[in-house]
Amino acid sequence: MQKQQELYRGKAKTVYFTDNEDFLVLEFRNDTSAFDGEKIEQLDRKGEVNNKFNHFIMTKLEEAGVSTQVEKLLSDTESLVKKLDMIPVECVVRNVAAGSLVKRLGVEEGKDLAPPVFEFFLKNDALHDPMINDYHIASFGWATEAQIAAMKKATFEVNGILKDLFDKAGLILVDYKLEFGVDAAGNLVLGDEFTPDGCRLWDKETRKKMDKDRFRQGLGSVVETYIEVAQRLGVSLDTI
Ligand code: TMP
Repeated sequence: MQKQQELYRGKAKTVYFTDNEDFLVLEFRNDTSAFDGEKIEQLDRKGEVNNKFNHFIMTKLEEAGVSTQVEKLLSDTESLVKKLDMIPVECVVRNVAAGSLVKRLGVEEGKDLAPPVFEFFLKNDALHDPMINDYHIASFGWATEAQIAAMKKATFEVNGILKDLFDKAGLILVDYKLEFGVDAAGNLVLGDEFTPDGCRLWDKETRKKMDKDRFRQGLGSVVETYIEVAQRLGVSLDTI
């Protein structure tokens, strides 16, 4: 499969066409962004670590029956993926209170959330990704009612699979964000990425933050910590 011209450049990944219209190349860059792109830095090896991390997690999800976009690793920083028509909403599940939930509702960071909280956000940096609900999504035609239900179901399935996976690596899956798209056959498929850039992971014993909050909050050792998480999970960081 030949990589062709750029389709889209996001804050941390670039998407390329290939010579097959059903497939794209995702390139994970070292760019690390927070606060809707207000803070951006290049962190050495981040692209490579996230590419391999994402491939590992997506493969685990596929094995557990979740349909994902990922086909295969192409290079240290690139993966081949199925082309999807992306739904412009972010699906967030929270097992523990942190981040914007703590600010919005004034609850204590670290409070266990049982049952877990599900939230939709509109993918729109200019509007700072406002929180939306099912009615906005259906009314504005961002997804059908059936797709909304399928996104919720799949996002909770992922929670069951990954909470367990991270727990075995001594980590708490605090929260995470997923994005879905529709493939050529009309099926809902998990797209985008699952990396420490888009979730919160805390060490089970010490509650040390081991995700992009290290970058957001200026805690340092960002990529070093992502590598520690990858090693605990058994993600291979060998050169491709
Ligand atoms: P939040 O606490 O900022 O709402 O984020 C919840 C989780 O979703 C957290 O793990 C970060 C992730 N997330 C993103 O990766 N990108 C986003 O644009 C948003 C809104 C959340």
